[in-house]
Amino acid sequence: MADQQNFKVTIDNITIEVPAGTTILNAARQIGGDVAPPAMCYYTKLQNSGGKCRTCLVEVSKGSEKDPRPMPKLVASCRTTVMDGMEVKNITSAKVTEARAGVDEMLLINHPLDCPICDQAGECDLQDLSFNHGKGGTRYEFDRRTFHKHSLGPNIQLHMTRCILCYRCVFAADQLTQTRQHGILDRGDHSQIATYIEKSLDNDFIGNVIDVCPVGALTDRTFRFKNRVWFTKPVDAHRDCPKCCGEVRLWMRGDEVFRVTARKDEWGEIANASNGKTGWICNECRFEKKNTSDWMIEGTTKVNRQSVIAQNKYVGLMKPPEFLEDVMNGAKPRHMLDIHKVSEVNEPEIRLDLIDGPAHSADFEIADEKRKELEQ
Ligand code: SF4
Ligand code: FES
Repeated sequence: MADQQNFKVTIDNITIEVPAGTTILNAARQIGGDVAPPAMCYYTKLQNSGGKCRTCLVEVSKGSEKDPRPMPKLVASCRTTVMDGMEVKNITSAKVTEARAGVDEMLLINHPLDCPICDQAGECDLQDLSFNHGKGGTRYEFDRRTFHKHSLGPNIQLHMTRCILCYRCVFAADQLTQTRQHGILDRGDHSQIATYIEKSLDNDFIGNVIDVCPVGALTDRTFRFKNRVWFTKPVDAHRDCPKCCGEVRLWMRGDEVFRVTARKDEWGEIANASNGKTGWICNECRFEKKNTSDWMIEGTTKVNRQSVIAQNKYVGLMKPPEFLEDVMNGAKPRHMLDIHKVSEVNEPEIRLDLIDGPAHSADFEIADEKRKELEQ
């Protein structure tokens, strides 16, 4: 067999070699960090995914060694393969920054801003996209498009108003279950995920559509409105499952299992299982095994990405050093202003600056007693 041909590609001034046929997105993921463009519709394990959302746009400033002309327009990095000597700009391109903010604005035209009550909040790709690449405001003045909510069987809730039409759930249903009962119907503004006659999606692996959905359009009905994801603790666990890999992530609070999902990698996609199977999980593991006794607990999940889910879950947290006390001759920050010098509203003998946290009525009662003692 002929040796695999490698191409050199430079992305944001970092040069790597990747096999011919690699997409710019996957080459950038090999570099990692911010150099990897965001991807809302591409999903490594779903064939034909990508090319829908345009969040992964990049600028190709040099086409290849043989033909160094730049590409005239920004290209979708998930669908464009690298050429030898290609030079790509992602975070180093002002055009990309501008275009990505535009794509985000466009996606939000039809997306409700209901993050405070949406179960996907905290692990929503659109939230992350808006935070990292979006603009602070919107120019849109019209009513957003809305759809009725549908329950797709006992376990899956469709909230079409939040859908960004990435097609991931359609590919997942097609490629994992062979009995797809839903698709995208109609065109333009009317396009929607639908099941024609509202059939429930009841194949054994259909629950995976929840994991691939980048927003809160498909959510787990057994978890809906039960908890905010950042209050739960992700724990890796497995069981001997005859249908799937049995390797899952339990989202726990105390001893209670609130939700079971597949494990995801650093790009938010299903991770490979250690037993050689794909990481997709069956409905039984996902919806019916909600007791810790159903699982062999492996340990707390390492949350790699910068995410609200990581809140309060860092081990060995290093706090930056505080220099203020040193430069202020030992004065603690809260000692720097003596409120009694500028106000008489407080009891001067009560050192508010020494109270740990906000003052309570009890702090003043003690002062009252002292005052009475002095008056006697
Ligand atoms: S429901 Fe979710 S996964 Fe399906 S097309 Fe809409 S956004 Fe994509
Ligand atoms: S991730 Fe490339 S177009 Fe959506």
